Amino acid sequence: MTVTPRDRLIVALDLPNTAAAEAMVAKLGDEVSFYKIGMELTYGGGLGLARELVQAGKKVFLDLKLHDIPNTVARATAQVADMGATFLTIHAYPQTMRAAVGALGGSPMQLLAVTVMTSYDDSDLKEAGYGYGVKDLVKRRALQAKEAKVHGLILSAEEAAELRQVVGPQMLLVTPGIRPADAEIGDQKRVMTPARAIAAGADHLVVGRPVTQAPDPAAAAKAIVAEIAAAVR
Ligand code: C5P
Repeated sequence: MTVTPRDRLIVALDLPNTAAAEAMVAKLGDEVSFYKIGMELTYGGGLGLARELVQAGKKVFLDLKLHDIPNTVARATAQVADMGATFLTIHAYPQTMRAAVGALGGSPMQLLAVTVMTSYDDSDLKEAGYGYGVKDLVKRRALQAKEAKVHGLILSAEEAAELRQVVGPQMLLVTPGIRPADAEIGDQKRVMTPARAIAAGADHLVVGRPVTQAPDPAAAAKAIVAEIAAAVR
């Protein structure tokens, strides 16, 4: 299946309620084909919106970061797969990853593993009882994700080039922290332009505020898709 430049842009619907999210989807129209719904919107009616988007022919990335005992992870994964989601995030614990992969059955849904959350630095990991620093733990979990046959990884664009070397060409690399050259950085600390992220090996870019807070969101999305199209080889 060929991935179009438009399908490489995933717009994060980080909006307070489903009415605001629906209004944004209507505004973006055909410029955007793929949406990410995170925990906040999920707990505010976002699952209904996810179903509507799937019915309307959009792709949906449910960023739920599942992590629980294997039986619960497996059952939750199967539920999300039944909804017709395209991507679902899970934490990159081997037990969790194996349970989620095992629950997919014939579903085409793809799982993305969160290796180490970007809010963690080495001292946070130590405090949480880990014997690895961020860099080593990211690498270790990326390889464990590959071993578990997880389809892809969520990672900062900065890590993309190095992790592409570690996991090889097959795994999907999905990167937030994307800022077009003229966009506000906001609270993101390390950002990359769409073109550079694609060149670094990212397959899909998650973009929130540069689209949703733009004066003309559809025009902003269109410009990012054009930048992606020019950057894909
Ligand atoms: O508005 P912005 O483009 O910064 O939104 C980025 C999206 O990606 C948000 O939904 C945010 O939660 C998510 N994300 C991130 N950094 C991570 C993981 C997820 O920005 N490390």
